[in-house]
Amino acid sequence: MTQDVRAYAESQRANFERFLRELVEIPTVSADPARKEDIRRCAETAVRLIQSLGGQASLWPTSGNPIVFGRFERGPDYPGLAFYNHLDVQPADEPEWASDPFRLRIEDGRYIGRGATDDKGPAVTCLLAAKYAYDRGLPLNFYFIWELEEEIGSPNFEEGLRAHRSEVRVRSVFVSDSIWISRDRPSVDYGLRGLQGATLYLRTADVDAHSGVTGGAAPNPIAELCRILMACLDPVTGEVRIPHFYDDVVPPTEEELDNFVASGFDVERFRKTYGFRWLRTEDPRELLKRIWAWPTFEIHGIAGGYQGPGIKTVIPHWAEAKVSMRLVPNQVPEKVFQLLADYVRQLNPLVEVRPHGSLAPYIGEFKGPHADALRRAVRRALGVEPAFIREGGSIGAVLTMKKLLDVPILMMGLSLPEHGYHAPNEYFDWDQARRGIEVFNYYFEELVHLYR
Ligand code: BES
Ligand code: MN
Ligand code: MN
Repeated sequence: MTQDVRAYAESQRANFERFLRELVEIPTVSADPARKEDIRRCAETAVRLIQSLGGQASLWPTSGNPIVFGRFERGPDYPGLAFYNHLDVQPADEPEWASDPFRLRIEDGRYIGRGATDDKGPAVTCLLAAKYAYDRGLPLNFYFIWELEEEIGSPNFEEGLRAHRSEVRVRSVFVSDSIWISRDRPSVDYGLRGLQGATLYLRTADVDAHSGVTGGAAPNPIAELCRILMACLDPVTGEVRIPHFYDDVVPPTEEELDNFVASGFDVERFRKTYGFRWLRTEDPRELLKRIWAWPTFEIHGIAGGYQGPGIKTVIPHWAEAKVSMRLVPNQVPEKVFQLLADYVRQLNPLVEVRPHGSLAPYIGEFKGPHADALRRAVRRALGVEPAFIREGGSIGAVLTMKKLLDVPILMMGLSLPEHGYHAPNEYFDWDQARRGIEVFNYYFEELVHLYR
């Protein structure tokens, strides 16, 4: 059997590349309203791909982008497993792209293009893995839920799933949308951070003014916004200074931190992967707590003033900051937003604070029969023990699926740190796809025993 799965995976390389190319070459940037039509076209393409493999597929409409629902059903009495992936992507406006981000470039088994690793490559991997299991007669029903609004916080996922949840007859869900520790250390994730975004907007005049004529007396909106941001965040330590921000935080247990440290994570490799010139901490235990299990306040962009060549000596009349806070159990996004808004109002009532999406943190179980099944499958396919960790990123749909489907959710990505999530020249690679097909097939075999 081991040989068969491996041979199948190898035989699927051309199919994998063809499917991935079709998907990557549609620019499904969910943050960009101008891409609505592309997103629809991608959803229809996905339906067609699933159908071309012999599955059934349709679209669930929502108030936003549709959700792709695919099925390989053996019969109504078989236990079901649903896969969640997303087909929308982040913008690809970075000047460092070496080739068109929406043309798939294949180079030495690497697939370069926006969305290749997040999350189109893993989606196609799951599809081909399940197709094989279905064809060889495993007594399971497979379902695919492919979202097209994940990268904007899944605002309409609940609406779509709620209307169709009775069609998703499953005993568990599998999410492949996260990253391993390293190429030789797979991870299974049992937690995600939540997220609360916000914009801070400050207007201090009607038009820009000459800084020689007014400077010294005029208010400067960028300086004022910086003051407020630094009142919210200690930029050296990363500590959040918003009063009561940490009140509801449930810290990770010592056992969890022990597991994090034992995961094989390497601080210097982490620093190098992202090219950071320094880190706020180099202690592995502290660093892992900070990225996987502790809240943050980040500034993503500051706008306002003059951005052209040289210097223009104006006093700008407005400034805006885009920020977000990653959240951990038991922080409540709406409550945290209120803390921020109240604090900023106290600092300067002229600053307008607007919320921008809320995702609650998620924590699942990392013990139990599904986790054991996945651990055995990874060991069998790859000969290593997966690390059980939490992830610092957010996937809005996971909470919604937990709430509406109420079954175990297992998360194991296929992406690697060097694949460059959200970065220019993002890529996926065949090795990870092939290994995914193997691991997932052994996992399905485990589930057959578990659900018997
Ligand atoms: N796949 C990521 C989430 C993720 C990141 C999981 C890192 C594990 C490790 C997902 O596509 C993502 O980027 N989510 C966004 C959501 C946000 C824009 C609402 C995120 O975490 O920033
Ligand atoms: Mn993703
Ligand atoms: Mn992403």
